[in-house]
Amino acid sequence: MQLNVDLGDRSYPVYIGSGIAAGFPEFFNERFPGRRCAVVTSSAIASIYPSYISALKEGLSCPVHELPDGEKYKTVPLWSAILDTLVEARLDRKGVVVALGGGVVGDMAGFAAACFMRGVDCVQVPTTLLAMVDSSVGGKTAVDHPLGKNLIGAFHQPAAVLIDIDFLKTLPAREFVAGYAEVFKYAFLGGRGMFDYMMANRGAVLHAVAKGTPEPLMECVERCVRIKAAIVGQDEREAGQRALLNFGHTFAHALEQFYGFEGLLHGEAVLWGICCAVELAKINGNLHGRHWPEFDELLFGLPLPPLPAPPDINKIYTAMFADKKAESGELRFILPVGPGAAEVVSGVGEKKVLQVLEKKLDLRLAE
Ligand code: NAD
Ligand code: GLY
Repeated sequence: MQLNVDLGDRSYPVYIGSGIAAGFPEFFNERFPGRRCAVVTSSAIASIYPSYISALKEGLSCPVHELPDGEKYKTVPLWSAILDTLVEARLDRKGVVVALGGGVVGDMAGFAAACFMRGVDCVQVPTTLLAMVDSSVGGKTAVDHPLGKNLIGAFHQPAAVLIDIDFLKTLPAREFVAGYAEVFKYAFLGGRGMFDYMMANRGAVLHAVAKGTPEPLMECVERCVRIKAAIVGQDEREAGQRALLNFGHTFAHALEQFYGFEGLLHGEAVLWGICCAVELAKINGNLHGRHWPEFDELLFGLPLPPLPAPPDINKIYTAMFADKKAESGELRFILPVGPGAAEVVSGVGEKKVLQVLEKKLDLRLAE
């Protein structure tokens, strides 16, 4: 199935299917005839899919650049090494960078494509659930700086995205739950239909990989990408509506920072962040009491991961001010206002935020 991200002359297709990555060389040669490319992937993907990587190498006659695996390698020097490969492979302005991997590979390869020759095409082939429903679509590319995540980057839309949900069959359970957080967030911003869909299918989606039944995931990924594509089509540079995609992230980023970016995956922190955002909307009056039962039902049974260590509520609150969403020293939250609808809210007092953190995080520790 094909969706489109509509951005005028930078519009691009997103293909979603099962088993479609096998035909990538044919797809590439048809869509980018006569153009050279380089594949960027990670050591982990290369070791899980050795024959697929060989088939790409052969079918595309291209170099394969392997990044070491993990967020800690999302650095300027390792990004620069991708550029070395592109130069050595003699890619020209028609060259194409193919990103095969999770969000780290996608962000680094996408940023290399954004800078090489002042910008060449990039094709995203995401292999994690998070990358399928979020990072591969929308054109945000970046690497980390020692002082903060994603501080160095560019908007550079891909030329195409190819999502093969079969890659999820090898995804470790923990990574799958982390990606599920980014799926789950669409229930709060993607309209009543997505809210109801998640309410009805949250269990089936969560257990789809474990059961080896990709069908529920196909529809779910398609729904998420459709919502993201619509938002990006209207607000590419996050001047307004795109900020809604950060639902739960103000709390999540603070938690990640508090735990030193270790012990809690980004998506795991987002799950906690979603719970806190709903609670804050309740006590701040953004979410009317008549909606509470539905929201409580949706959140019931959410696979919240244990916190790595007891949280220090005051330190987590302070960490919130380092978030990119904090403007002029004021916190900004994305809060639900009804099923499938959220808004950007600022001016929430410290007392309420601390109350939320205390209630949600302490509750978990006590369980
Ligand atoms: P990741 O890329 O580190 O992948 C997570 C782990 O899963 C890695 O160890 C990887 O090797 C492994 N893996 C990937 N695919 C696999 C597969 N099919 N089978 C087995 N193992 C597999 O992490 P992620 O969660 O995909 O992405 C997180 C990154 O994405 C962060 O750097 C974040 O900043 C970025 N991000 C970007 C955007 C954006 O809009 N650009 C949005 C959200 C997140
Ligand atoms: N992941 C948030 C965005 O793409 O804007």
